[in-house]
Amino acid sequence: MQRTLILLKPDCFQRRLVGEILSRFERKGLNIVAMKLIQVTPELSKQHYAEHAEKPFYPSLEDFITSAPVVALALEGLDAIAVVREMLGATNGLKAAPGTIRGDFSSSRQMNLVHASDSPESAARELDLYFSKEEFVDSKDEL
Ligand code: CMP
Repeated sequence: MQRTLILLKPDCFQRRLVGEILSRFERKGLNIVAMKLIQVTPELSKQHYAEHAEKPFYPSLEDFITSAPVVALALEGLDAIAVVREMLGATNGLKAAPGTIRGDFSSSRQMNLVHASDSPESAARELDLYFSKEEFVDSKDEL
């Protein structure tokens, strides 16, 4: 089993797509093992997106990710990191395949609705940024 960190970004919250997207993850069979609504601060954004800090789009990304609440959650399942990335589609909503979350709901490279960890190493780092150990519940393996 793997865990992955998901952020339902400000555009997801503002467009009232939180339920729709959580529902897709649930229907796929992934277990929610931690979840909260938070306001990302500039400091947290810099930690989360450290690898993008020097990129020209970073200032705009920070403005966006701090502009409204996000839903942070941890999903657990077999091969969850790759499964979720596949469900999201390409980073750029314009290029994401129909049937994927971004392909169905986003036409933007920045406002692409959902962030998901891209490797076991980033999942471990990002889960640690958003959740303490006590905030995780036992997964429902029988579901
Ligand atoms: P995410 O998967 O959260 O990882 C980094 C984020 O930066 C990405 O989704 C987009 O929201 C944003 N992003 C990536 N590339 C660009 C770009 N070229 N211009 C603006 N935003 C970008």
